[in-house]
Amino acid sequence: VRVRVLGSAAGGGFPQWNCGCGNCLGVRAGTVRAVPRTQDSLAVTSDGERWAMLNCSPEVRAQIEAFPSLHPRAPRHTPITAIVLTNGDLDHCLGLFSLRESQPLTIFATDAVRAGLTESIFYRTLERFPGQVTWKRLVLDEEVDLGNGLRVRARAVAGKPPLHLAGRAPSAEDNVGLWIGDQRHRIAYVPGAADVAALSEPVDCLFFDGTFHSENELIELGLGTRPARDMAHIPVGASLAALAGVAARRRIFTHINNTNPILLDDSPERAALTSAGWEVAFDGMELSL
Ligand code: MLT
Ligand code: MN
Ligand code: ZN
Repeated sequence: VRVRVLGSAAGGGFPQWNCGCGNCLGVRAGTVRAVPRTQDSLAVTSDGERWAMLNCSPEVRAQIEAFPSLHPRAPRHTPITAIVLTNGDLDHCLGLFSLRESQPLTIFATDAVRAGLTESIFYRTLERFPGQVTWKRLVLDEEVDLGNGLRVRARAVAGKPPLHLAGRAPSAEDNVGLWIGDQRHRIAYVPGAADVAALSEPVDCLFFDGTFHSENELIELGLGTRPARDMAHIPVGASLAALAGVAARRRIFTHINNTNPILLDDSPERAALTSAGWEVAFDGMELSL
């Protein structure tokens, strides 16, 4: 199993276009030890030929161009044989509408996530000919074949409906984590989680929600009014301890908000997670299991 981190930032990316926080100013000016990051997405393969893309970020075009394994091998072709969605948030789905150049797509999602997308008027751009999108259903706790030598199981993870559907009756299918692997190796990809309840089984590699470091990060910076858990993201400061007992050979935070001090290679917050055995995802990171 090979994994490529296509993007590792939370919604907005790093730096975020309208953000002048210390991290964003510093990374623009080159005065902090941090690298820019695009919005969260992974690519996974077992044969190097057929890739599953986990989430489809607004920056998908640049992410594909930056990774030759995802380039076409014929005049019209893509090695991306499956796209798997963890929720309906725009940082995870907006890229689908950028993949509208008449390429058939196979998208795996729960019914709730699919409905949120197909009800949008923009979805018609992916319905220009019969068979443009083949939907495959993610049923909670059921393993399905991704068609590229890998299997995926979605588990409900505490989350919320996407912001543009706020107010809708919440469903256990609004937000899932993905457990993906072959007979020998398994990764868990959980980029959004309000708690760690779904996490227990041992995995070779865990990618977990690293959005915020502390509960009141946005409030203290004067950039927001809501605590992290209110936005369905357990802060790193809490998940480090809560996940200490989950067996994983590698543990990696991803979906990192631009305000998070773990983005800085030399911050005390980064040192603390490193000594707890965690890593911080960056665009272009690759692992082989
Ligand atoms: C989140 O991770 O909470 C969402 O991406 C927020 C958003 O959609 O802006
Ligand atoms: Mn997000
Ligand atoms: Zn910022």
